Amino acid sequence: MKRFRYGAYLLLLTFVLIITGCSNDGESKKANAADSKETTGLSADEISNEAFKDLFPLQYNSYMKNEKMEDTKYSGSVKRSKYDPDKEPLLPVLFNGYGFATEYNEDRGHTYALEDIKNVKRITDKSVGSCYTCKSTAVPKMLEEMGDDYWGANFNSEIWTKGEAMGHSPIGCSDCHDPETMDLRITRPSFTKGLESQGIDVSNPTKNDMRSYVCGQCHVEYHFAANNSEVTFPWAEGFKPEEMYEYYNTIAKENGFEKDWVSNISGAPMLKAQHPEYETHASGTHGKANVSCADCHMPFERVDGKRKITSHWWTSPLKTMDTSCGQCHGDRDLDKLKERVLDIQETNFSALHEAQNISTTAHYYVNKMITSGVSQDKITQAQEFVRKGQWFWDIVAAENSVGFHNPQGSMDSLRESTVQSNNAIRLATEELVKKGVDMNELDQEIEKVKKAVQAETDNFKKKEHAVNSYFPAQQPAAPAVKK
Ligand code: HEC
Ligand code: HEC
Ligand code: HEC
Ligand code: HEC
Repeated sequence: MKRFRYGAYLLLLTFVLIITGCSNDGESKKANAADSKETTGLSADEISNEAFKDLFPLQYNSYMKNEKMEDTKYSGSVKRSKYDPDKEPLLPVLFNGYGFATEYNEDRGHTYALEDIKNVKRITDKSVGSCYTCKSTAVPKMLEEMGDDYWGANFNSEIWTKGEAMGHSPIGCSDCHDPETMDLRITRPSFTKGLESQGIDVSNPTKNDMRSYVCGQCHVEYHFAANNSEVTFPWAEGFKPEEMYEYYNTIAKENGFEKDWVSNISGAPMLKAQHPEYETHASGTHGKANVSCADCHMPFERVDGKRKITSHWWTSPLKTMDTSCGQCHGDRDLDKLKERVLDIQETNFSALHEAQNISTTAHYYVNKMITSGVSQDKITQAQEFVRKGQWFWDIVAAENSVGFHNPQGSMDSLRESTVQSNNAIRLATEELVKKGVDMNELDQEIEKVKKAVQAETDNFKKKEHAVNSYFPAQQPAAPAVKK
C-alpha cells in the first residue's frame, strides 16, 4: 500500500506539471477548492472532448484507447449480444414483454456510448430523456436549462436533437472534471440524491472517494420516478440486493413506482436491474477496504517511455494486471491471481445460469396457473415469488464483473434467487396438480420452448418463440424502457 500512496503523490505532481494553460485566476467556485489555482482557460461549459485534446494530449490519447475492441474470457469490449449461446441465451424469455427481450448487448468502451444508445432497438419514439443521462456530456447543461422537464422529454425528437446541436460527446472529460480547474466533480444529481438518501454527506468528499464517485454517477442500479421519469437510485435502505428490493417494495411503491414492466409469460410485475457496479463493489472486499474504481480501472500508464499518467482506458483490468492489481498485490504471482479471478467468475457464471434456468421455468409454471384457472390469490403470490427470484439473479447478471466485485455477495444473491423461483414452482405445482394438469407434459413444453428460443438465429425474433399456443402471451403491448 505504501507504493500506492507514493504513486498517488507522483500523480499529483504530474497533474501540476501538466496544467500549464493560461491563468485566468478566476474566483474559486467551491468553498473547499484551493484559493488560487491555475486554470485551463477552457469555458466552464465546455462539453466537447476535443476541446481538451491539445491541453491534455496524454490523457486524451489514453481516452481514445476506449475505441479498442478486445474480449476477455467473460467480459471485454467487443459489441456482442447477451443472447449468444455462451452468454445468457434465455434472456428473450426472461425479459419477454420488455425492450430487453428485443436487443441487449454487452457493454463496451465509453467512446461508443452515444453510437450504441442511438442504435439500440430498445430506444423507440416513446423513450424519454432519462435514457440519455449516462451517455452524453451535454446532460449537465441540459439539466441546467430544462430543469426537471429534462427527464421525461422525448428522447428522439427533443433530447437527441438538442444534444447534437450542443455538440455533445460520448462520456467525456467534462462528465468527471471541472473544465476550468480539472478537479474531479459530480455532474449527475441523481448520484448526490442517492447518497443523501443514505444520510451520506457528499459536500466534502475525500480525493479517494471521488475516484469512485465519478463512476458511481452511471455504474449503478436506478429506476425512473413515476411522476417525472427522473433517474432515481434505490439506495435509501442500503446497497445490497435485498436492501434495494426492500426499497422497491416500500418507498418506491409509496411514490407510485411499482414495476418496470409486466412479464408476457407470467404476468408478474417485474423489476429490471441495471449495471450496479458501484453498489456491488461497495459491499465487496475491495470496496470495504476503500479500494476505488480508479485504482483498478485507471491504473498508472507510462507514456513517452517515462512519464506516468492516470490511464483513461476504462476496460477490463485483466488486460493490465501488473499496473492495476500489481500496485497492491505485487507480492503475489499475478498469473495465479488471474486464475483466482477466473475461478470466481466461473463459479458465479454457472450459478447464474442455474438461477436463470429455474427462473424461466417459474415464469412458465405461473403462465400455466393463469390458463388453468387457478385462483387469483395464488397466482398473485406466485407472481411475487417470480418477481423476487428474477430480481436476485438480474442484479448479478446486469453487473458487469461476473462476480468479481463481490464474489460472496453475488453468490448469496443467486442462491436467494433460486430459493424464490423454487417457491413459485412449488406453489404452482400444488395448485396445478389440484387442477389435474399433466405435469410431465408441462415440463416437456417448457423444454421445447426453451430450445425454440435458443434455436432461433435471428436475435430479434427470439422473443417470439417464448410464447405459443400452449403458453399464450399475458400482455400485448410493451411499455417504455430504461436504457
Ligand atoms: C479490485 C479491482 C477492481 C475494482 C476496485 C473495481 N473493479 Fe471493476 N472489474 C474488475 C475486474 C477484475 C473485472 C472483470 C473483468 C473481466 O472479466 O475481464 C471488472 C469488471 C468491470 C466492468 C466490466 C468490464 C467489461 O470488460 O465489460 C465494469 C463496467 C466495471 N468493472 C466497473 C467498475 C466500477 C464502476 C467500479 C467502482 C465502483 C469498479 N469496477 C471497481 C476489477 C475491479
Ligand atoms: C469517468 C471519469 C473521467 C473522465 C470521463 C475523464 N477523467 Fe480525467 N481523471 C479521472 C480520474 C478519476 C483521475 C484521477 C484523479 C485523482 O486521482 O485525483 C483523472 C485524472 C486526470 C488528469 C490529471 C493527470 C493524471 O494523469 O492523473 C487529467 C489532466 C485528466 N484526467 C484529463 C482528462 C481528459 C483530457 C479527459 C477527456 C478526454 C478526461 N480526463 C476524462 C476521471 C475521468
Ligand atoms: C456518464 C456516465 C458514465 C460514467 C461517469 C462512467 N461510465 Fe463507464 N460506462 C458507461 C456506459 C454507458 C458504458 C457502456 C458504453 C457502451 O457499451 O456503449 C460504460 C462502460 C464502461 C466499461 C466497460 C468497457 C468495456 O471495455 O467493456 C468500464 C470498464 C467502465 N465503464 C468503467 C468506468 C469507470 C471505472 C468509471 C469511473 C472512473 C466510469 N466507467 C464512469 C457510463 C459511464
Ligand atoms: C489499491 C489496492 C488494491 C488493488 C489495486 C487491488 N487490490 Fe485486491 N485486495 C486489496 C485489499 C486491501 C484486499 C483485502 C485484503 C484482506 O482483507 O486480506 C484485497 C483482496 C483481494 C482478493 C481477496 C483475497 C483472496 O486472495 O481471496 C483478491 C482475489 C484480490 N484482491 C484480487 C485483486 C485483483 C485481481 C486486482 C486487480 C484487478 C486487485 N485485487 C487490485 C487491495 C487491492
